Amino acid sequence: MDKGKFITIEGGDGAGKSTQIPFVEQLIRSRGHKLQVTREPGGTELGEQLREILLNFSAGKMCDDTELMLMFAARKQHLYEVITPALEAGVWVLCDRFTDATYAYQGGGRGIDASRIEVLEDWVQQGLQPDLTLLLDVPVEIGLGRTGKRGEVSDRFEQQQVCFKELVRESYLDRTRRFSHRIKRIDAAQKVDAVQIRIVEEFNAFADNVT
Ligand code: TMP
Repeated sequence: MDKGKFITIEGGDGAGKSTQIPFVEQLIRSRGHKLQVTREPGGTELGEQLREILLNFSAGKMCDDTELMLMFAARKQHLYEVITPALEAGVWVLCDRFTDATYAYQGGGRGIDASRIEVLEDWVQQGLQPDLTLLLDVPVEIGLGRTGKRGEVSDRFEQQQVCFKELVRESYLDRTRRFSHRIKRIDAAQKVDAVQIRIVEEFNAFADNVT
């Protein structure tokens, strides 16, 4: 049996991930593939508990390395319980964020050296990489304008300064240039319909190639 494909969606705050994930989900299903939709940090019972800590821990400062290792701890459990078994069974996996987010937030945002992230990436993923990553890219001010309108209580990452968010965006864009075979930038500042046209283009180019 063919293995499933692993697709991830990335983007900064207000890039429109929550609107576009159900859209990508429907694109994958329309090609007749079985699909598991999941997210990081999270996706397992343990991972969701770690997510709660990672996003909302408020008693003092969490050390950057602790944050990095908790992200990878949640990821290992997710791979072990959900992602790897699904892919092995021929099920496609659509994941809201994965390790590109770690390079962007813990690497770019927090300033942790990429070589240290790579050590954990190799250990935890043992070579597994997404087959396709859609980066919903939006200038920081536009993203902030959108999240501001939602009026929700913000988490530890959303509370970061604009310069942190600029560094996150730069890291994502840098990875898009370096891994252009896998990471596809979608201009998410456009209207929803225009974003979806670009998503369909990238998705079809990928899916036509693998099925
Ligand atoms: P989200 O579900 O709204 O995307 O929130 C998850 C937050 O976690 C988001 O602000 C980015 C952050 N994050 C990291 O900092 N590193 C990671 O590796 C992942 C997966 C997420």
